[in-house]
Amino acid sequence: MKIFRANKDNIKLAANLINNGGIVAFPTETVYGLGALASNKNAVKRIYRVKGRPENNPLIVHIYKIEQALSIAKIIPSDAIKLIKKYWPGPLTIITAYNSSSNISSVARANLNTVAIRIPNNPIALKLLRLVDAPIIAPSANISQHLSPTSADHVKNDLFNKLDHKKDMILDGGTTKIGLESTVIDFTKKNPTILRPGGLSIKLINEFVKASFDTTKINNHNPLSPGLFKKHYSPKAILRLDADYPIEGEAWLGFGKNPRSINNFININLSKEGNLEEAAKNLFSMLRYLDKLQVRKIAVKKIPNKDIGIAINDRLYRGAANSS
Ligand code: TXA
Ligand code: MG
Repeated sequence: MKIFRANKDNIKLAANLINNGGIVAFPTETVYGLGALASNKNAVKRIYRVKGRPENNPLIVHIYKIEQALSIAKIIPSDAIKLIKKYWPGPLTIITAYNSSSNISSVARANLNTVAIRIPNNPIALKLLRLVDAPIIAPSANISQHLSPTSADHVKNDLFNKLDHKKDMILDGGTTKIGLESTVIDFTKKNPTILRPGGLSIKLINEFVKASFDTTKINNHNPLSPGLFKKHYSPKAILRLDADYPIEGEAWLGFGKNPRSINNFININLSKEGNLEEAAKNLFSMLRYLDKLQVRKIAVKKIPNKDIGIAINDRLYRGAANSS
């Protein structure tokens, strides 16, 4: 299967494929998504199969205008309205009660009575959504528990042999801007809760609504989100976090100024300037790169736990849960 450059004609082709039950990998501002018509049960089932994703882990519904959310959600609490008015399109996913007269496949919702919704901020994604003019379900376009894809090549490496070369396609829209997934906030309880830190920082969220985020709940037995198990976002290599310098047999994944005398080691840097946004954008692709070099162990410099650094640390922490 070819990878198709995301020009006007190919986005049209992609919309037709989706309308015919196909699966299309497409760029969003966060990571690449693997999209299918949200109402098409068989296509949605195939997405789970292609990813090797357990069917109890629900998917995010992607839309292009707020009106669509008003009919998919039973109600959207005022706090959520405040946030989506400010940050949609953008890296924000809201969980609300599901309106049972809407037509999002129950498979996509893992049979829950809640639903996850977002408007992505990427012109290709928005064009595709507008052409299809119906909600598209889209998990990240990677093998389940692997690193999320930030380029069409990453999608190809994970899923090329699993997609149907007649029905499906990969749309190439270059590397994604943010590089980490959306922030997921649950609005179904009394107080909004952040289930997954992501591209929209908790600081910015808290300027509008008080949302709690409890990292102590990140463990395998009590996942905040049905699919948010501790082991996730895993490279093949073993990660050693908060490292000061690499030791024999480790590659170095730096942040900010590199330690001296690491020249003998395989070493790359998430952001030499110590810029958290740049680090977020590089994280998954650099981990994939080190995997490609068949590095067995990676020492990772401590990342400041603020702004998007909170999401970076969340992914690193889960990635390091490899062997547990
Ligand atoms: O940035 C993103 O969000 C990307 C792009 C493609 O939009 N998508 C993405 O999807 O990361 P996925 O499927 O890899 O992650 C969706 C997360 C999962 O942790 C899932 O458990 C959670 O959202 N989720 C979905 N529906 C939910 C629900 N009803 N209740 C709680 N968590 C839910
Ligand atoms: Mg994912």
